[in-house]
Parts: sequence; structure tokens; C-alpha cells
Amino acid sequence: MPIINVKGTHDVIGDEAALYSVVESIMRTMSMQYAFNEVRPPVLEHSELFIRGMGNSTDVVRKEMYTFLDKGDRSLTLRPEFTAGIMRMIVQNKLYATNDLPLKYFYLGPVFRYERPQLGRFRQFNQFGVELVGGQSSFYDVEVISLAYDILQMLRLKNVVLKINTLGDEESRNAYRDALKKFFAPHITNMCEDCKNRYELNPLRILDCKVPEDQEIVKLAPKMSDFLSETSKTKFAQVLKSLDELGIPYEVDDSLVRGLDYYSETVFEFHYTSENGNNYGAIGAGGHYSHLVQEIGGPDLPGIGFSFGIERIVSVLKDDNILNEEKLDQFVDFYVMPLGEENKDYAYHIASKLRGLDFVTDICLDKAKLPAMFKRAEKKRAKFAVIIGENEVNEKKMVIKNMTSQEQVELKEDELLEKIYGIHDQIYECDECEEK
Ligand code: HAM
Repeated sequence: MPIINVKGTHDVIGDEAALYSVVESIMRTMSMQYAFNEVRPPVLEHSELFIRGMGNSTDVVRKEMYTFLDKGDRSLTLRPEFTAGIMRMIVQNKLYATNDLPLKYFYLGPVFRYERPQLGRFRQFNQFGVELVGGQSSFYDVEVISLAYDILQMLRLKNVVLKINTLGDEESRNAYRDALKKFFAPHITNMCEDCKNRYELNPLRILDCKVPEDQEIVKLAPKMSDFLSETSKTKFAQVLKSLDELGIPYEVDDSLVRGLDYYSETVFEFHYTSENGNNYGAIGAGGHYSHLVQEIGGPDLPGIGFSFGIERIVSVLKDDNILNEEKLDQFVDFYVMPLGEENKDYAYHIASKLRGLDFVTDICLDKAKLPAMFKRAEKKRAKFAVIIGENEVNEKKMVIKNMTSQEQVELKEDELLEKIYGIHDQIYECDECEEK
């Protein structure tokens, strides 16, 4: 029996891997423009971190963690998200003491949740996200939402809906929690098992129930907006006003509660439905957390962040034919083709020079005839073929063929540096002509 991949995991190969790279590089570049710095926390953490950080009423902690005892009998968990780990990193390294606040970090990597695999839902998936810690003003909420929005714009995602809500401060949430308990008390025995647990642990999470019969009851529940303290009302109004000023469209959704316990005040999700009607749910989400740093053992610093689900974003891009294979940067600039074994050394020397000039260069090192090499160049969507035969070796030159226009030019090796960028850039000039 051949060994296959673990359920809920997936291989990323070829053009799809290229698409992941493009998406991740846009996210990185944009975050760096907003002056966030990269951090790389470990995948493995003590289970206690997530129980304390994310809260043991959350589905992720109760049902979805990959937790095991290591050989030293320590309970360890493969991270189900980044935020708690980043807070541990900040506290353990006292980053708040040695750096100016707010701390601004971005991260990228795999996370693990034992969920039922379905469209856009994996057991190992990748998140890209940011955390801004130690900023007291609600303008920082806007800075973080604006970065997420700019990234999605940059990815040319048109059908994004930003849903936003406030969970208020502790005072507001306590009052709301009491009201929800009172409201659900006569219904709870007829609701699902999850809701029964949520009723005891965190009644706000009942609002997130997906069971249709329970949703009918939820629709009649009291609204958070009626229980907000004056301070929370003012903060939320300020956030919405700034979003208006920046021209970032949003929908206030007072049933948005988010699935993790650390949130307070502003929470948000970016939802996406593709052109052909596939609903991907949230492609990214985040919010403000007031006491998470303190919960992990650090000072009482607030934070705000978001994480994108890379798999979902890649699926959406493919579904809506945005940044598709043809529109992706062609990955090979020059495909070097030696005509015969005896010309390989010189061909290799030219390939190295092209690589040294920052061009993506591949070379055919197998025994292959010219037509077969051209086929390979086409398959790799190479922009140019570089042909090296006996003549070329003797006269220290090469033939460069534009794979789109089929034009070819001869270039002396000692003119390479001077002329190669001009030759290469004609491709872009040509693309622009076509677009016009
Ligand atoms: P989250 O909503 O649990 O938030 O996950 C963020 C995003 O990860 C989701 O919007 C979704 O796109 C993606 N995602 C979640 N589960 C799966 C899955 N099983 N398969 C594929 N993609 C998935 C957090 O993780 C928070 N740490 C976000 C945050 C950062 N809040 C503050 N800072």
C-alpha cells in the first residue's frame, strides 16, 4: 500500500506553489510598508499557553488542538493560531521593555486544527497575520484593518465584505453576558450540546451557533449595542468614522462575536463569495484584545491583530481567475539550451552569468535535441531561449530567441551586461502594448 498524506493536509505543487509565493510576498511587502517586522515563533508550544490564551470555552481549545505528551511527559500542542505564541514571545523576551511601543510584528506559517475537512477548511493550513501590541489609541485598530484591506486590494479581490462589531469593554460584556443568560435560560434545554456548554462557559459564543433551529432563537436575543458602556460606544464610533474617512467599506454585524475568548472591543472578519457563488466564509479575521499579554504573564498591554487564511485566499484567487497561472510572473526568464554535450560548459557559464544578473535562469542539462528543448522552454513559460552551439562557443556569443515574438538576436558575451536588460524589458513593453 502506498503511503498517502494525512487527512486534512495538502501538497502545494507547481503553479499553485507559485501562487502561494506571490500572495505571501504581497502580504510581506505591504506589512513592511506599514513598518511591521517579521517574527518566527516555534510551531510547538506548551498546551497551557493556548488553554490560558485562547480560553477553554473555545471550540479550538476544547476539540481541535493537536495535543500530545512528548517523551518527557510534557503536554505540547502544535499551534492552532499565532496570537498566543506571539504574546508568549513578547513576554518571555520582555520585548515591551527593550523596544518602543507599540510593537508591530508580522508572521507566516502553518497552523493545525483538528477540524472536519471541507471547502477552505484544512487540518494543516497557513496563516499570515500581524499583531500590534502596546498601542493605546483606537486609531491603531484602524491602522491594522487598513493594512488588511490594502493587502486584499493589492490581491485584486473585489467581492470582499468587511464585517465589523464591538464586543465592548469588560463592563459592557459582563452586562451583556447576564442578559444573554437570562434570555437563553428558558430555551437552552432544547438547544444543541455545544450551546449548552457555551451557556455555562461563555454565552456570547451561542450567537455563533450554526444549527438552523438554534439560529431562530438567536435572532431574538438581546443585542450587544444595547449594553455598551459610553467608553466603548465612543471608541467604536471613532473606529467607524476613521474607516469612513479612509474610504474603507464595512458592514456593522452585531452578531459577530469571533470564536476565541481573548477579544474585547473591535472585532472584524473579511468574508468572500466568489463570482460563481462559492461562499468561502472568512478569508481573514481579527480583533482587539485588552488583557492577553497580562494573561500570559506580562504587563497589561492591549493589542490588535488579524490573520489571513492563505489556503482560502489562494482558492478564491483561483476561483475568480485573479492572478491566475497565465497572469503570474513567468518564472523562467531565460532557458539556456546547449546544442550537444561539448557545449554544456560554456552554456553553464552563461546561465551562471544570467543568474548573477538576477534573472531566473534554467538550463537543459539532459541530452535533448533542439525541438525537444524548445518544448521544455514553452512548458516552463520561459520568456527567452538562449541557444549555445559550436559557433557560439567559439565566438563567445549566444543566440537569444524571444519565445513570444519568435524574434532572435545574437549577443556577444562581452555585451551581455550592457544589452541584456534592454532585451529583457522589451517583453514588458510588448505586454503593455497588448493591454492598450
Ligand atoms: P481565526 O478566525 O481562528 O483567527 O483564523 C483566521 C483565519 O484563518 C480565518 O479567517 C480563516 O481564513 C483561516 N482559517 C481558520 N481555520 C481554518 C481551517 N481549518 N482551514 C483553512 N483556513 C482556516 C485567528 O486565528 C486569530 N489568531 C486572528 C487574530 C490575530 N486575532 C488577533 N490577532
